[in-house]
Amino acid sequence: MKGVILAGGKGTRLAPMTSIMNKHLLPIGKYPMIHYGIERLAEAGVKDILLLISKQSAGLYCDYVGSGDQFGVRITFRVQEDADGIAGALGLAEGFVQPQDKFVLLLGDNLFDDSLGAYLAAFARQEKGAKVLLKQVDDPRRFGVPELEGDKIKLIEEKPSKPKSSYCVTGIYMYDGTVFEKIRSIRPSRRGELEITDVNNLYAAEGSLTYEILQGWWTDAGTFASLLDASNYLQGKERNGR
Ligand code: G1P
Repeated sequence: MKGVILAGGKGTRLAPMTSIMNKHLLPIGKYPMIHYGIERLAEAGVKDILLLISKQSAGLYCDYVGSGDQFGVRITFRVQEDADGIAGALGLAEGFVQPQDKFVLLLGDNLFDDSLGAYLAAFARQEKGAKVLLKQVDDPRRFGVPELEGDKIKLIEEKPSKPKSSYCVTGIYMYDGTVFEKIRSIRPSRRGELEITDVNNLYAAEGSLTYEILQGWWTDAGTFASLLDASNYLQGKERNGR
């Protein structure tokens, strides 16, 4: 299975640091943030990875990631000109991913301990559709929140004021090749972005959006508080040689 990592965007919540450097290059523990996502995919056997970046910091990405050799993977770069949302960026993966392919998408600011191998294997066995990974959180209102129905997701609400569950949809998604036609059929949300939640809800309406729950530590390092938590956690882990 191929992999796509979203590593562009403006990182507004991390300004002013993100005025000099893309968010996904900020240090966490002893590595830039992007290191962890590539490592997770490599460990799960995903060897062909598309990095979607913005013009800002393109040279720095190349300095650090290069061809991907140091991770044992092959990296392809593609530049996103406009920050038009997660689904807008994912549209640029068409061509890298063939219509018959299934693939995994990571948001580069999602950091986690679970190995992805078993989830990818389960998705490979799934006849069609998509799969998302969930995590129980204290503050679901910051995220996409699923309404569960058996082993499927009925609907996801993006940043709801009254969440229907205590789970959030993490930035770890698996899709079949129909994702690109779904992206073409959605319209920008009130915040002017093509929302990945709207794409996921098209799968939910088809009854083909499955989920699994992450077992280990997970965070979305998009704010200064979560960036610090992630740094403390990962530095502790590195110190203990885990
Ligand atoms: C995005 C998604 C949201 C998801 C989150 C996970 O939110 O829209 O559904 O729960 O990533 O990190 P954003 O970071 O754009 O606010």
